[in-house]
Amino acid sequence: MIIGVPKEVAPGERRVALVPDAVKTLTQKEGIEVLVEAGAGIEAGFPDEQYLAADAKIVAGAAEALGADLVLKVQGPCERSGGGHEVDDLKQGAALIALLKPLDAFDLAQRLAQRGVASFSMELMPRITRAQSMDALSSQSTIAGYRAVLLAATRLPRIFPMLVTAAGTLQPAKVLVIGAGVAGLQALGTAKRLGAVTSAYDTRDVVKEQVQSLGARFIELKLDTGDSEDSGGYAKAQTEEFYQRQRAELAKHIAQMDIVIPTALVPGQPAPLLITADAVKGMRPGSVIVDLAAEKGGNCELTAPGESIVVEGVTILGNTNLPSEIPAHASQMYAKNLTTFLGHLVPEAELVIDREDEITHGTLLTYQGEVVNEMVRMRMSAARDAGGEG
Ligand code: NAI
Repeated sequence: MIIGVPKEVAPGERRVALVPDAVKTLTQKEGIEVLVEAGAGIEAGFPDEQYLAADAKIVAGAAEALGADLVLKVQGPCERSGGGHEVDDLKQGAALIALLKPLDAFDLAQRLAQRGVASFSMELMPRITRAQSMDALSSQSTIAGYRAVLLAATRLPRIFPMLVTAAGTLQPAKVLVIGAGVAGLQALGTAKRLGAVTSAYDTRDVVKEQVQSLGARFIELKLDTGDSEDSGGYAKAQTEEFYQRQRAELAKHIAQMDIVIPTALVPGQPAPLLITADAVKGMRPGSVIVDLAAEKGGNCELTAPGESIVVEGVTILGNTNLPSEIPAHASQMYAKNLTTFLGHLVPEAELVIDREDEITHGTLLTYQGEVVNEMVRMRMSAARDAGGEG
């Protein structure tokens, strides 16, 4: 079996699907050859020589890597800046594993189906114990949560830790995380290590203990969150009335903070609005918001996805690809997710698509000419009915 690793072409993407160590675990297997496009790992800090040392074959252009039996990518195939779509270089009947944005990029799913590609979307990995080491959303969110705090620290006109010095006492920075999932917990831990006073809020009460174990205060709002978690461990959407009350309650806490990091996500939906323009105006000048939900429109009303703006002295960062800003470790973790997943899908030197298996079934997006994931099919037909994309 030939596995191909092309260089990522999405604008600003610096990660690579396999790092040299991950290549080595694959090439050690009988019957597996790995082709890596020249320069694929360079922006993540992995030069071609390291891939050669891991027994990969370096190929000159993208076409050969994309023409493999199984193609591994970070981002889904896209249009190249010089023209031509990456999907057109995939072989009929080949397999592809990547972050395919299955609940948004319906046209890509259809294109992959038409091309006859068996595609697996890493975002669809079930959040079950058996698949934990294959969960790329979690690994990349870990990096994003860490990076969010560092970005905020560089923009804050204050330092994080409390300092008692001959030149006076400096009060510690106050950091609030809204949504204590994977990214939020990592942000809390990172801010605490830098000396901030940390607190967090989440609609899922089950995270209270995790928040407290990181030395942060868990904020309880006078709101009935009801049954706030779905069977997949993700948050359920709340009613608009709930969000309205949440925004009003949160604004009081937000006004006290130096840094606010909202991460609230409900899969497949626009980010819930949690921080209004008025709440931003209630913050002290110099405060910073890093909106991790920027890609889905943002949890803050003023967030401009992909941009950094300042409103009445408050900086709002809307970075949409934080893992790519720490490409070496983000790639290392993503590659580990992929190789563990491959251990499951490719037990010997051949791809086994067992649709009865929870992990395979859960992640399979397109197969034999069709979009097969039920949730995605439902969303696609709803979008069609609404006259939207797809
Ligand atoms: P997660 O599902 O582990 O955590 C999200 C948390 O938000 C959950 O604990 C959930 O209960 C909570 N939440 C949902 N609605 C809420 C509400 N109304 N109020 C308070 N909490 C609420 O997700 P994960 O993996 O931590 O990702 C968090 C966000 O970060 C996502 O939006 C994800 O797309 C984003 N992300 C952004 C990156 C970037 O570069 N900007 C990179 C990686 C992830």
